[in-house]
Amino acid sequence: MAYGIDTERVPSGIPGLDKVLEGGFARGSSVLVSGTPGTGKTLFGLQYIVNGALDYGEAGIFVSVEDSPEILNKWFGRFGWDFEDLQERGLVNVHTPEIKTEEGEDFVQYIKNENFINMIKSFKAKRIVFDSLTTILEFSEGFGGYRRGTQMLVKMFRELGLTTLFTHERKVPVERLDFGMEQFVIDGTIFLDMIKATDHYEKCLSILKMRGTNHGKGIYPFQIRKRGITVFPEQHVI
Ligand SMILES: Nc1ncnc2c1ncn2[C@@H]1O[C@H](COP(=O)(O)OP(=O)(O)OP(=O)(O)O)[C@@H](O)[C@H]1O
Ligand SMILES: [Mg+2]
Repeated sequence: MAYGIDTERVPSGIPGLDKVLEGGFARGSSVLVSGTPGTGKTLFGLQYIVNGALDYGEAGIFVSVEDSPEILNKWFGRFGWDFEDLQERGLVNVHTPEIKTEEGEDFVQYIKNENFINMIKSFKAKRIVFDSLTTILEFSEGFGGYRRGTQMLVKMFRELGLTTLFTHERKVPVERLDFGMEQFVIDGTIFLDMIKATDHYEKCLSILKMRGTNHGKGIYPFQIRKRGITVFPEQHVI
């Protein structure tokens, strides 16, 4: 087990995706889900947590930095997910800390705090999602820069035995590759984007990096349906 990362795979809970990931994410790894606005980053993270719990019995924590539980219920309850019930069953914890960054409170300090770590341990979580890394680091002071902030978070969750997803706000389309510091630090990067077809925009996913994995190299179309995201690894974007 190198760097705390196991060869065991953690299924993503996203239909179609594991076929191009050799079965899922490496246990203990951290993956960036980087996408342009409205591409489904929050949904991807929630689906990883909810299906991880329902299909694989792994408890998961979804940390939402911007959206309230009411908003998450409203937008994502439509996919048939009852967060309250999952919470009561000890399977999913939707965690929405109220941090007043305008008053100098700091997300990184909050995450590093013993109370937060104890919450993860007592929940026996195996999966965690932070929505979004961009917000955590952009509104945090004193974390020592974007790269060191990311390094610290990646190391911390690996040591806690979690397989972590960080959503990330991407400002340029997939054809214009650009790589922020965080992508060198994190074990994998998945891009979510939209590509213009003749009469519509098609959502697409690409795996830009996945350490230790012979991952698919395509630009795969994906759709958001009743049960969430489905990736079509055998199809091509139009
Ligand atoms: N019930 C639904 N059925 C089909 N598509 C949906 C449904 N709900 C949301 N979507 C699609 O998902 C998108 C929003 O998903 P999500 O909030 O996960 O995106 P995001 O990348 O997190 O957005 P943001 O950049 O605002 O954080 C919508 O713009 C829409 O295209
Ligand atoms: Mg979002």
